[in-house]
Amino acid sequence: MNTAEPRPTTLVLGASRGIGRAICQRLLASGHQVIGVARDFSASPLDHPAFTPVTLDLSRLDTLGKRFQDLQQAHPDITALVCCAGRGQFGSLEEFSHEQIRSLMELNFLSHACAARSFLPAMKRRRRGHLVFMGSEAALAGRQKGAIYCASKFALRGLAQALREECAGSGVHVSIVNPGMVKTGFFDGLDFAPGEQAHNYLLPEDVADAVQLILDAREGAVIEEINLSPLKKHVVFKKPGAR
Ligand SMILES: NC(=O)c1ccc[n+]([C@@H]2O[C@H](COP(=O)([O-])OP(=O)(O)OC[C@H]3O[C@@H](n4cnc5c(N)ncnc54)[C@H](OP(=O)(O)O)[C@@H]3O)[C@@H](O)[C@H]2O)c1
Repeated sequence: MNTAEPRPTTLVLGASRGIGRAICQRLLASGHQVIGVARDFSASPLDHPAFTPVTLDLSRLDTLGKRFQDLQQAHPDITALVCCAGRGQFGSLEEFSHEQIRSLMELNFLSHACAARSFLPAMKRRRRGHLVFMGSEAALAGRQKGAIYCASKFALRGLAQALREECAGSGVHVSIVNPGMVKTGFFDGLDFAPGEQAHNYLLPEDVADAVQLILDAREGAVIEEINLSPLKKHVVFKKPGAR
């Protein structure tokens, strides 16, 4: 961080666990003020004087406009938005109800599009800012049983690419990180997980490093996209014979 510049204030969506929490820790260690959004911080509270937890359910799209407006009023100096909240839900398309399709798209894509819509104008006015989206390897190629999850991540990637062009003249950097399997609670309710060997998974800290690299880029340079993967992908199915 350039010490001549004011301390950056970063808003992280999905800050209570996993990748988002690691990003918060990383940014706090490098001198950011961090505002973290999630539904529940009680399991592993982040105790740091520069961290502000905000309890908010991002799937309640109808409330987001007002909640984001309040956040912006309370923290008018937000210079970076890291959109990391999300969940995995996998299965053949027929296994999803219409409601489940809507709900996954709302959390993984629409909440982040709305967040970008809310915080971008102030960044443009200041001619300074970063939007960082958490994509996935599922944003790069469609895979069986991942129709809606992949669609949500492809949508995020499309949003990031379009915004990146749109914001080029206004000083706002737009980026997306596309990790392969990261060892987090993401897999708790799923029927698969990464293999146990250290080269079979990424750590949340690996992804946090990528986000830090993006935020530290020179003003005149933008890191558009980072794809990162475990050295050797290995998927373990929890129930024998699954898939
Ligand atoms: N793990 C992987 O292998 C992997 C790979 C590629 C991309 N990703 C992406 O990375 C992101 C984070 O995943 P992760 O592995 O860190 O998962 P995680 O450990 O399950 O964490 C998910 C985070 O999202 C928050 N969240 C979920 N639903 C929310 C809601 N309705 N409102 C507000 N916050 C909500 C959770 O907080 P609360 O539950 O407290 O609300 C938590 O902080 C997701 O977008 C995921 O798609 C993960």
